[in-house]
Order: sequence, then structure tokens, then C-alpha cells
Amino acid sequence: MNQDVVFRFAEVTEAAALAGFKWLGRGDKNAADNAAVEAMRQSLGQLAIDGEIVIGEGEIDEAPMLYIGERVGCGGVGVDIAVDPIDGTRMTAMGQGNALAVLAVGEKGAFLKAPDMYMEKLVVGPSAKGVIDLNLPLLDNLKAIAQAKGKPLNELSLITLAKPRHQDLIHQLQDLGIRVFAIPDGDVAASVLTCLPERNIDVMYCIGGAPEGVVSAAVVRALGGDMQARLLARHQVKGDTDENRAIGEHEIERCLNVGVPVESVLPLERLVKNDRVVFSATGVTAGDLLAGIRHHGQKWHTETLLVDGLSGRVRRIHSTHRQL
Ligand code: FBP
Repeated sequence: MNQDVVFRFAEVTEAAALAGFKWLGRGDKNAADNAAVEAMRQSLGQLAIDGEIVIGEGEIDEAPMLYIGERVGCGGVGVDIAVDPIDGTRMTAMGQGNALAVLAVGEKGAFLKAPDMYMEKLVVGPSAKGVIDLNLPLLDNLKAIAQAKGKPLNELSLITLAKPRHQDLIHQLQDLGIRVFAIPDGDVAASVLTCLPERNIDVMYCIGGAPEGVVSAAVVRALGGDMQARLLARHQVKGDTDENRAIGEHEIERCLNVGVPVESVLPLERLVKNDRVVFSATGVTAGDLLAGIRHHGQKWHTETLLVDGLSGRVRRIHSTHRQL
């Protein structure tokens, strides 16, 4: 992929973030998401690529735009694209921090075609690459990570989602002296933090969305970190009610149809085949990874993290826009 095209992906997430930002604090997460989806789709349509959405807003019958299988771009190099027009729609709607617009681009066939279901994820940065194994208990993993990083267990920092399903775990880890950062939403940003040593986050562990997991895997791969994941059906995560079981069984069927195993551990290489990926994320609201959108008069300022796995370049792009 040439550098011009790489930079254009930053413009795509900027467009999505700016569109979503219009709905900041207005209590309507669907409106924020729809605006970001539309802007991202329009922006992708102008690029000289022959792109296919492989992780998107849903199956063709569920999502009118950026659905799985949709072709985007006006012709050029063939690429697969994983999008999350806003990771943190609720946070955008509620005026809370840490929401971002994000996408990852890879060669054809680069990304795991995971259905929109839950995924258990364990992510570390380059200094703990090769020591994680999701088949083992989390505590064994944390001990291995601490050893690889040359620090005692009680000096580890772990980031997770503050969801009820993680509450017991959070208390257990805190009892061991581990520093836990429990954020309401947004595990893509949390995963990236593990690969930025200056942010002092050693591990990301959570059960969150599979699409977010594949997008995270792309940037983790490009930044030299490590990740393992396991797809989980809804009733395994949200409680075994009749409704959840029906949804969960449908998810399992979808996995079988695309040849993706449920409950088996997926190593990083299975989530994303190689590090020739481009990742772009633009902050919507301020978080630990990116500044949120700020405006002064008729000028809007964005910050974007653009990672080019092929060249190894990591850029922070500060842009000023004349319109939202
Ligand atoms: P949305 O922007 O789609 O709301 O996702 C936010 C998020 O926190 C993700 O980062 C995470 O993977 C997922 O939701 C967790 O799902 P749930 O809110 O159902 O626990």
C-alpha cells in the first residue's frame, strides 16, 4: 500500500469521529453511531482501493451501511477492512471519555472473519510477547507476564472493562495487589495502551466484542505485541436464559458457517495473519490513548494514531478542520 493511501485512512477515521462528535452528550448512541458510519463509508468510497468490509456493522440483512461483505473504494489495491466507526457509542452519547473512531486495513484474507459476538481477550505489549496462554488460568498468565517484565505480581497494571461480569475478577486481582484500571467501555484503546510502554499498562483482559477484538489484534500485531482470544456465545457471557441461548446458538451456527471455532483459543496469527496492516484511530472524546475533539470557534481539532505495520511507523496526527 503506498504512503498516500495510508494517510488517507487517517482522514477516514477523522471524518467518522467528527460526525459522531455532533451527537456528543445528546443521549442518542444510535444517532452517534449512524452519523459516524455514514461519514466513514463516504470517506472510504473516495479512496483508490478495492476494499471489502470484513468486520463491520453487521450482516447484510442487519446493517444498511458498512455491512460485512460490502465493497468500498473507487478501485485500486485489493484490501480487507475491519471497522468500528465508534468504539464507545454509549460514552459519546453520555459525554464520557475514551470513545474513538477506528479501522484496520490488511491484505485480502488478513483478518479473522468473526461474527458480531463476544470474545475473551488477553493482550500484552512486546516485552511479554510469547508468554501468554489463554488455555491457562488468568493468574498463571499474570505471573508469566510479571516474570517476563522483571517485576513482582503486585507491580502489574491491568486494564479491563467495568462490566458486572468482571466484578469478582477485579476484586480478586486487587486482593493480589495488582493495579486494576476498570473503564466503562472501549477495549480497543485499552488494548493499544499495552503496546505503548510509556503508558505503563502491562495487560488488557476482558470479555468484550469480537469485532473490537479483531481490530485490536491488527494494531497489536503491527506494534509487536501479543494477543490471544476465544469466541464466546451470548448465553456463556450474559446468562443462560432462553433468549440468550437462542441468540448464542445462532452465533455458534454463524461461526460454523465461516469455519471459525467457538471456545477454542485463537492465537494472534489466527486473528490477523501478518503485520502488513494499517490501523487508524481518531479520538472522539478524550481518553488515555487520544485527545478528544476540541473546538475553538469554527475550528475543530482532532488527534489520530496512525500505525503502519509494514514500515513500523507510528504517527500521531493533529489536524484542524474547518467544519464538523
Ligand atoms: P459500543 O461502542 O459498540 O457500545 O462498544 C463499546 C464496548 O465497550 C466495546 O469496547 C466492548 O468490546 C463492548 O462494548 C462490550 O460489550 P458490552 O457492552 O455488551 O459488554
